[in-house]
Amino acid sequence: MVGMRIADVQNDIDHELVSKEQIDSKIHEIAAQVSEEYRGKDLLLVAVLKGAVNTLAAFSQALSIPVQLDFMSLSSYGSGTESSGTVTIRQDLSTDVRGRHILIVEDIIDSGRTLAWLVDELKRRGAASVEIFALLEKPARREVDVDVKYRGYEIPDEFVVGFGLDYDERYRNLDSIAVLKPEVYQGVNA
Ligand code: IMP
Ligand code: MG
Repeated sequence: MVGMRIADVQNDIDHELVSKEQIDSKIHEIAAQVSEEYRGKDLLLVAVLKGAVNTLAAFSQALSIPVQLDFMSLSSYGSGTESSGTVTIRQDLSTDVRGRHILIVEDIIDSGRTLAWLVDELKRRGAASVEIFALLEKPARREVDVDVKYRGYEIPDEFVVGFGLDYDERYRNLDSIAVLKPEVYQGVNA
């Protein structure tokens, strides 16, 4: 087996938080539930680029119902570790969402600002239903109330990388979720 593991970026990583096996088992558990609940419906999975791509790929393949996929690129973070609070569309969906059942697949919910904005936007465009699956949540950081129907793991208030999540575009291809050593990002937001 090959792949980028903790050992390959050991100098930058403080500790592993969610293992590859834990990610895999949670995604399969939620995929089974979603397959059950959306059977017979025409489901559209929407992922926010780029962080949710790994979760979307694993999740969509774990489903036992046919779905469609679409992507949106939003910017709420710069290259630092804090949300800017304003959301802008960098790249829009290619699907008309009117009348569609949508499940937003997210890597992580931090302040909740990005997701709250996206749910409102999709409803405004006429989606029939909008639900959320978030692989990770940082409850301590929540600023905006969003209703997450399918919940993965709650994690402490620490900056994490891996399985799609980056720091300054790095570590996205790490196969598990890990806490970065503070010295790696220190000074950037100071
Ligand atoms: P929110 O709008 O504050 O909830 O931020 C959500 C987005 O910020 C996520 O989809 C991630 O792309 C990014 N983000 C939040 N926390 C982390 C983290 O710990 N590591 C990497 N990216 C993060
Ligand atoms: Mg994201």
